[in-house]
Amino acid sequence: MSEKINVVILAAGKGTRLKIDTAKPLCPAAGKTLVDFVIESLSACSKNLGIEIDYNLVVGHKKEELMKHVKGSFPNLKINYAVQKEQLGTGHAVKTFFDAFPAAWENKFTFVVCADTPLIKPETYTEIYREVNHSGADAVCVTFTTNDPYGYGRIEHGEPGFNIVEEKDATEAQKKINEVNSGLYIFKTEHIKNFIEKIDDKNKSGEFYLTDLFKVGYNVRSHVFRDAKEFLGVNNLIQLEEVESLILERKKHELMLNGIKIINSQSSYIEPSVTIAAETTIYPHVSLMGNTQIGKHVIIEPGAVIKDSKIEDGVTVKAYSYFEKAHVKANSDIGPFARLREGSVISEECKIGNFVETKKSVLHKGVKVSHLSYVGDAEIGQNTNIGCGFITCNYDGAQKHKTTIGKDSFIGSDCQMIAPINLGDRVYIGSGSTINKDVPDDAFAIARQRQTTKEGMAPKFIKKK
Ligand code: UD1
Ligand code: MG
Repeated sequence: MSEKINVVILAAGKGTRLKIDTAKPLCPAAGKTLVDFVIESLSACSKNLGIEIDYNLVVGHKKEELMKHVKGSFPNLKINYAVQKEQLGTGHAVKTFFDAFPAAWENKFTFVVCADTPLIKPETYTEIYREVNHSGADAVCVTFTTNDPYGYGRIEHGEPGFNIVEEKDATEAQKKINEVNSGLYIFKTEHIKNFIEKIDDKNKSGEFYLTDLFKVGYNVRSHVFRDAKEFLGVNNLIQLEEVESLILERKKHELMLNGIKIINSQSSYIEPSVTIAAETTIYPHVSLMGNTQIGKHVIIEPGAVIKDSKIEDGVTVKAYSYFEKAHVKANSDIGPFARLREGSVISEECKIGNFVETKKSVLHKGVKVSHLSYVGDAEIGQNTNIGCGFITCNYDGAQKHKTTIGKDSFIGSDCQMIAPINLGDRVYIGSGSTINKDVPDDAFAIARQRQTTKEGMAPKFIKKK
């Protein structure tokens, strides 16, 4: 017998009750999919226990999509896939797995978990593993009590053991039982071997129920967990919404317990993948997503959306700014209403004001672009000030071109740079200039028509109503 544990994740079902085209295990929640949460939690349990897990996914409905996703999300995890051609029930799914991987009978214990219960914590897997290992029971079924048992298998206790009665098969009296099956179990693998062939499909659904591995008379235990929310299963889109809110709530509570101030936390969306350092303040209605890292003493004002970005210490992100794959270094001040697109690197102590868009541009320390500008494919040197209404004309209809501006320069308002173009250090560009020739260090350039003033001529043009 090996010390490795089998994990069988049931993910072949159609998810008919969802009424959407997406395979249930791939339903999105808080930036990941349901099955991602299940695998992550199990791998954390494997680390806690110091025991190796053999990961197995039973796939069927939309199997190619599902396998491709899981391989992409967990490139370093070896996962076996057993294909259940027809979804004849959860018991049939487990049998399909052992038929495909008979070597798995050698592992002493087997977890079976549904791909649609993403909130189960690593500690729970660890706890039931210890229980089956030490109690002498052949299997442990995780149960919880609920005022709304509808849809779950009811636990009907006997002595010893218990039956699990599915919703469709339950009598009115059984439907009133409020201890229910979470869908998470750990078995001595031998118990599955002894009883799996005895499961039949003589029930209202005509399915082979895995729950028939639990019966009055069997040496099996039920373990009631107090936090029913942890076992919430996703069978419809209302439950998906509930599960997602709980994932987000967990994340926000964890952040707050680590010194991050989140004002009116229910209103913000912070994905579990985001990291935030202590003493940062998040105002209401903020969205933080993907691979986002936020430093300490950062202030994020209402309505900001930050995806896959790095925000260093002491930065202020003013209201309604939108970042994607951007990097903002310490003590910069961004927004309100700024848009930092992919490849924007805003160095220390910069100021990006309202209605400024940046893309694939490096702004060195202390650069200011305070109002209404587009900075694309550009590099701007230290302490340069860009006036209002500045535009890099970076696109000629076919290709993108680069604008370079040196340090300590001053670009007047309403200037356009026709890229490719290079401006030196300490240059001064007069307002309203369209610059299409390079400007050397220390030069002044102006490119606009001279003003003509005709005294007394205004009345000719002023229209009267
Ligand atoms: C199941 C349990 C129920 C429990 C509930 C907890 C059974 C018979 N019932 O019901 O007691 O209270 O979970 O959430 O097990 N699947 C397959 N192949 C199949 C059928 C299902 O892989 O042939 C997969 C599904 O993709 C899903 C999981 O098994 O991930 C559970 O199936 P689902 O239809 O959601 O079962 P429930 O009705 O929720
Ligand atoms: Mg379910």
